[in-house]
Amino acid sequence: FTTDSYPEIERDPRFAQITADHVAYFRELLGKDSALVDGVTADVAADDMEPYNGDWMRKYRGHCKLVLKPASTEEVSKILKYCNDNMLAVVPQGGNTGLVGGSVPVFDEIVISASRMSQIRSFDEVSGVLVVDAGVVLEVADQFLAEKGYLFPLDLGAKGSCQIGGNVSTNAGGLRLLRYGSLHGNVLGLQAVLPDGTIVDDLCTLRKNNTGYDLKQLFIGGEGTIGMITAVSIQCQQRPKAVNVAFLGADSFEKIQQAFREAKSQLSEILSAFELMDSYSQDMVHRVRQNKRPLDGEHPFYCLIETSGSNTEHDAEKLEKFLEDVMSKEIIADGVVAQDETQIKSLWSQREGITECVGHFGGTYKYDVSIPLKDLYRLVDETRERIEAAGLKGDTDEFPVVEVVGYGHMGDCNLHLNVAVRRYDKRVEEVLEPFVYEWIGKINGSISAEHGIGIAKKKYLGFSRNDTMIGLMKQVKKLYDPVLQPKHHTAASIIIIVDH
Ligand code: FAD
Ligand code: MLT
Ligand code: ZN
Repeated sequence: FTTDSYPEIERDPRFAQITADHVAYFRELLGKDSALVDGVTADVAADDMEPYNGDWMRKYRGHCKLVLKPASTEEVSKILKYCNDNMLAVVPQGGNTGLVGGSVPVFDEIVISASRMSQIRSFDEVSGVLVVDAGVVLEVADQFLAEKGYLFPLDLGAKGSCQIGGNVSTNAGGLRLLRYGSLHGNVLGLQAVLPDGTIVDDLCTLRKNNTGYDLKQLFIGGEGTIGMITAVSIQCQQRPKAVNVAFLGADSFEKIQQAFREAKSQLSEILSAFELMDSYSQDMVHRVRQNKRPLDGEHPFYCLIETSGSNTEHDAEKLEKFLEDVMSKEIIADGVVAQDETQIKSLWSQREGITECVGHFGGTYKYDVSIPLKDLYRLVDETRERIEAAGLKGDTDEFPVVEVVGYGHMGDCNLHLNVAVRRYDKRVEEVLEPFVYEWIGKINGSISAEHGIGIAKKKYLGFSRNDTMIGLMKQVKKLYDPVLQPKHHTAASIIIIVDH
């Protein structure tokens, strides 16, 4: 097998092919409905496998013939032990919303789906500690918490499908990291299964636990490379009683930076999000949705500011005052504050909807990078110039680039550089890569701020990590997965395949 997008990657010949005997074992273990098979015994239509073989960006293609849906940690343990003993490659899969191809069985790996592990195990209303199975959908957890007056400390556009196990495995950042911090801080414990079936039970619910190495951190953002997470305990925060949102337009990126400084200083403890959008991204949202824009005029840059506090009037007054101040200083050209819940949702959808609208035309080359703020937008300008110089911008099949857009979590110095295309095209990829990664390497940025390495960035890891770090990563992988030692480091999510 080869991948359609990455023909240079080869299947590791050490892995066995799935046989009817293997299938019989899994069916005995899990029951018929929890072991979907296509091809081996040919009793499931290929269409049923599609959600597991496709990806959100329509960029990667899987060739999996067997999907296993364990309902417990013990079942995951038995599956992994059997796969390890029989040299069967696997990929853990959550909601399959990842953006770097890490959840896609690019060869014929067995998909281990966490979707049947979907119980909320416990919630402590005093401490705010939630314990959930890995397959609980993020939005389901947040709705459960809302009823108790709490909030899940992570929010992102894919909340309706992504799972907490997937969020933790990718160390997802999302829209309010600025306020609630990263999962490295909020996850208190987890339960996971190593490639040989060993259960790592570290479902600690304590805030403080300085007893040796904090091994759970390796699973957070580990992309499934060292084991499958089956449960998570997480510190949740009180749900804010007052949420206010403003949408502002500015004439330059410098002005947006000034607005960010002012927002931190004037809104300080109630500031919960500061999101950046360029005019190109907003034009795409408008083009796809044909909706009314939040502001009458058009501006080169926009930002969305959210405050979360305990007193609506007091917070609204603060936000209005901030808006007056930045407009009188001519930092901001225009702005609007949402007056009710519907308007809050509508302003947020101008930001959250970018991912879908950019992908609407066929595909997206996505770069999720960390850059010191002052240089953040320069990468978008330079990339646009390169694409135009290469003559690839045309919005047609022959010249497939529709637009080059920039947006992201400005509060975290995290830029999303996206190139919307009519179809994936080697010529476009060659203009973008390794250019973007070299650019990031030169300024000591990160080639992955929040989406991970997956298969998309496997060969570019060296632009953000030095040889010593990569060497240590290989040793960690070898320790957790000794059967197949890495020839090269990969953060791809296949926990038994280490180099495909
Ligand atoms: P999957 O896509 O299924 O898997 C992701 C990776 O984790 C794979 O490598 C997979 O093998 C591994 N994995 C999954 N479950 C487990 C498990 N139980 N144990 C071990 N490994 C596992 N990301 C951000 O950081 N911030 C954002 O703001 C953001 N917004 C997004 C908006 C949209 C519309 C979309 C489509 C994606 C967005 N993402 C964002 C990408 C993000 O990584 C995912 O949405 C989410 O965290 C992945 O969860 P999932 O359950 O879909 O995982
Ligand atoms: C976002 O911030 O919207 C997500 O990370 C998804 C994306 O990069 O489009
Ligand atoms: Zn993001």
